[in-house]
Amino acid sequence: MALLDVQELQTYFHTEYGLVKAADKVTFHVNEGEIIGLVGESGCGKSVSILSVMRLIPSPPGETVGGKVIFEGKDLLKYQPNGREMRAIRGSKLTMIFQEPMTSLNPVLTVSRQLTETLELHLDMDKRAARERAIELLRMVGVPDAPRRIDDYPHQFSGGMRQRVMIAMALSCNPAVIFADEPTTAVDVTTQAQLLELMKDLVTRLNTSLVIVTHNLGVVARYAERIYVMYAGRIIESGRSEDIFGHPRHPYTVGLLNSVPRLGERHGTRKLIPIYGLPPNLINMPQTCAFLPRCTEKIGKCEKEPWPELRAVGDDHYISCYVDIKGK
Ligand SMILES: Nc1ncnc2c1ncn2[C@@H]1O[C@H](COP(=O)(O)OP(=O)(O)OP(=O)(O)O)[C@@H](O)[C@H]1O
Ligand SMILES: [Mg+2]
Repeated sequence: MALLDVQELQTYFHTEYGLVKAADKVTFHVNEGEIIGLVGESGCGKSVSILSVMRLIPSPPGETVGGKVIFEGKDLLKYQPNGREMRAIRGSKLTMIFQEPMTSLNPVLTVSRQLTETLELHLDMDKRAARERAIELLRMVGVPDAPRRIDDYPHQFSGGMRQRVMIAMALSCNPAVIFADEPTTAVDVTTQAQLLELMKDLVTRLNTSLVIVTHNLGVVARYAERIYVMYAGRIIESGRSEDIFGHPRHPYTVGLLNSVPRLGERHGTRKLIPIYGLPPNLINMPQTCAFLPRCTEKIGKCEKEPWPELRAVGDDHYISCYVDIKGK
């Protein structure tokens, strides 16, 4: 059984322009100790999906209106977002590393206080034990001179070091799943690679599951064992990393892969083809497949039938598409 099983999750936002269906029947699961990737263009609903799992959707304007989030045999959607049960899980068993660390680290508290607070709260440690553990965590994520640096404030750390502090915080209570939402966009590429390697090493060593949320296909190719591709609030293809990259079956995934350079590819050996058009506005979405206006593979059925449900096209490989582009 999956460690975390998200089924048909629906989160909508009520805005002055209309109802935004940001996550519309999003289904994915995370196995123990596994690294998965959630990819898709900006605005397709990646962050909303994981924030819904964490019960962190601001309400109003947001509302999770349907689905199930099964964790340790319980449906988290049955809990109050700020109730006792969710507070016990969030930040300890399910944790998050956010896009921009300066917005999630508290600027007026020392790093020590931010780390020890969680340890005291969730693991019931006394002050001294919490401080020792916090120093150990900082060492683990490669913060040099940890016993001294722990008393610094977040602004005294570089961007890369702040990300390391965030990773330490996310790991502090031995979580089951860490969600890393574009964990590395705020730092340069060398630091980005180091941080991803660090996260991979740590989660592998600690047998923690990691969900990497990104629009960078290179990142998921390198780190994720399984991949979920999102488009306009839905998962449109999922499968093992090698199948998604080696044999993509949804025209959108094919388009995504054709539009970015691949690792190790010699310059000029393949023409990059962009996906023409724009992602749809998530307000007043058509009943038909949302990729239809941009799709080069569409058939008559696509114009008439509703957006198809996910269907199996291989071992652990699913697409929501009427067209089978196998072999193309
Ligand atoms: N608080 C909010 N109020 C209204 N709409 C929102 C809110 N938060 C998110 N949305 C909408 O939900 C949709 C999905 O947003 P989301 O942040 O999940 O995208 P994303 O895939 O994470 O994009 P990015 O790659 O840019 O981070 C977008 O259309 C966005 O405008
Ligand atoms: Mg996002």
